[in-house]
Amino acid sequence: MKRYMVVGGAGFIGSAFVRRLVEDVPEAQVLIVDAFTYAADPQVKVAFKGDKNVCVVEESLTNTRRMRELMGSFCPDAVVNFAAETHVDNSIAAMQPFFETNVGGTVALLSAFKDYLSASVPANARYLQVSTDEVYGASSGATAPFSEAAPLQPRNPYAASKASADLAVLAAHTTYQLPVLIGRCSNNFGPRQSPEKLIPKVILKALRHEAIPVYGSGLQRRDWIYVDDHARALQHILNYAELGSVTNISAHHEVTNIELIGHLLQLLQNLTGDKNISTELIAHVADRPGHDVRYVLDTHTLEGMGWTSSWDFDTALRTTVQWYVDNISWLEDAQARLEEHVQEHVEG
Ligand code: TYD
Repeated sequence: MKRYMVVGGAGFIGSAFVRRLVEDVPEAQVLIVDAFTYAADPQVKVAFKGDKNVCVVEESLTNTRRMRELMGSFCPDAVVNFAAETHVDNSIAAMQPFFETNVGGTVALLSAFKDYLSASVPANARYLQVSTDEVYGASSGATAPFSEAAPLQPRNPYAASKASADLAVLAAHTTYQLPVLIGRCSNNFGPRQSPEKLIPKVILKALRHEAIPVYGSGLQRRDWIYVDDHARALQHILNYAELGSVTNISAHHEVTNIELIGHLLQLLQNLTGDKNISTELIAHVADRPGHDVRYVLDTHTLEGMGWTSSWDFDTALRTTVQWYVDNISWLEDAQARLEEHVQEHVEG
């Protein structure tokens, strides 16, 4: 596989996927297509300037005609869809954009891919949908880990939009025999994540000595994976998964939110020597409505493809915290874009 169209390739996970691809597959040709919303990293345009193997186009995946044109001219072997509205809190405040982008956008991209396939295309073309463990709904302590066959029981608008998109992808396989794949991953962390998400938010607030909002008890659990591990798993899925299949992705590192925040504050205090960064900053606030307590995935399918995590959690977390401390202006800029977005599209 040589030619990759990476939709949402300027976002947190999409850009990590491109970085890994460029390193692992030197002959890869990459077309990044991204709407450059608040969640995209504008530096992606600069980072790949002059790289003859990577091209960046600013466009929304909801534009079927443009997606068709881009596929027709670039001739991808793989179309990988990372583009999505991803923040649960924003989806609770306003659900419509989540269904427009995540469902409407996926359907638009699939339609373009279907047209592309009916013209002459590379024999092994693939469409990979980047999805989430949240589509299964919450696990209770007693629930067995969710296998790929578990029912979809999303509990918030974001998760419902991703589950709907997954169903559209699977229907395109059954109805039109499109060569599709789906990866469903647990919570990602790493450099260049929007500060609307827990880890970069805690880091920014701590560095500013601002209160850190912990929803409810903070005893909810999340299963964290380093974004580079997710990128590697997606490459595995493209290379080895069966067409029309779903593959769960997790590195099985579960921790409560409150434990994780404590760990982050300790790391930040050690790195900066700033004694004002402490658990004193923690402020318990009202819980998120419909807050999922826990997600647990069964990852036998992925392991069966020979994938294992390349990152030890503590090393990855330390690397991540160090990156944000060293790149505080990136974090401040991302926060400014986020505040503008929330004022215009979520609160307004
Ligand atoms: P988040 O990073 O938003 O990811 P997701 O909701 O997709 O899991 O949140 C991770 C966990 O942290 C989740 O249980 C909600 C909690 N949380 C807080 O307690 N405070 C916050 O300010 C945020 C953003 C999240």
